[in-house]
Amino acid sequence: MAEVVIVENSRAAGDLVADAILSLIASKPDAVLGLATGSTPLPVYEALAARVGDIDLGKVSAFALDEYVGLPASHPESYTSVINREVVEPLGLVPERIHVPNGATETIRSAGADYERAIHEAGGVDLQILGIGSDGHIGFNEPGSSFASLTRVKTLTERTRSDNARFFDSPDQVPMHCITQGLGTILRARHLVLLAFGEGKADAVAAAVEGPLSSMLPGSAIQLHPHTTVVVDEAAASKLRLADYYRYTFDNKPEWQGI
Ligand code: PGA
Repeated sequence: MAEVVIVENSRAAGDLVADAILSLIASKPDAVLGLATGSTPLPVYEALAARVGDIDLGKVSAFALDEYVGLPASHPESYTSVINREVVEPLGLVPERIHVPNGATETIRSAGADYERAIHEAGGVDLQILGIGSDGHIGFNEPGSSFASLTRVKTLTERTRSDNARFFDSPDQVPMHCITQGLGTILRARHLVLLAFGEGKADAVAAAVEGPLSSMLPGSAIQLHPHTTVVVDEAAASKLRLADYYRYTFDNKPEWQGI
């Protein structure tokens, strides 16, 4: 089962996950990170930026989960721009080592296979950061996505487009299509770290961690992974049936064991 860590707030979550990432990089300087966009992972990136100091991240590479299709990479809300602004620049990562699926329409037919190949050639993702949508999506794998899916084009649901409208001037500017790592791609990462904060995520978190495996709730794919850590605040944990057990397990965790 996933390890569930219930923390006081998103800042504590950011600290915990940043520590895990830095300890990975200490043991593997050429670690491959899986990056997520959206509001949820921001505390992780902020905590990393505050801690990075003299640590050499020159060999670290990273792969983002997804990108909009047809939005120019130079658009401020393209995930290429977002990853540059929120991760690459503050952490001083080497831009050539940071990959985002290519959402350009001219090359979209081969973009999925190209991305899968690039991840494979980099040796696979060591630690994948994940958020979860209110509809249970991870990456942009909307309900109905196959657990075996690989990087491909998807049509965003109206709910996701309206969830993401806050980043755009008007809801109709949110692109209709995206290119996203599949659930099968995500499951190949060696460690999944799913974060969620706030009551609005409580149903999706409970369904992903404790509900039946179902492509209708793509986040439930994490149950198939041997090393998943779910880091949530009290509000996002509020519908977990085994919350007390997760707290008990974490409080009694051997000191030598990281997340
Ligand atoms: P959020 O998005 O972090 O902005 O809530 C999560 C997601 O849609 O995966």
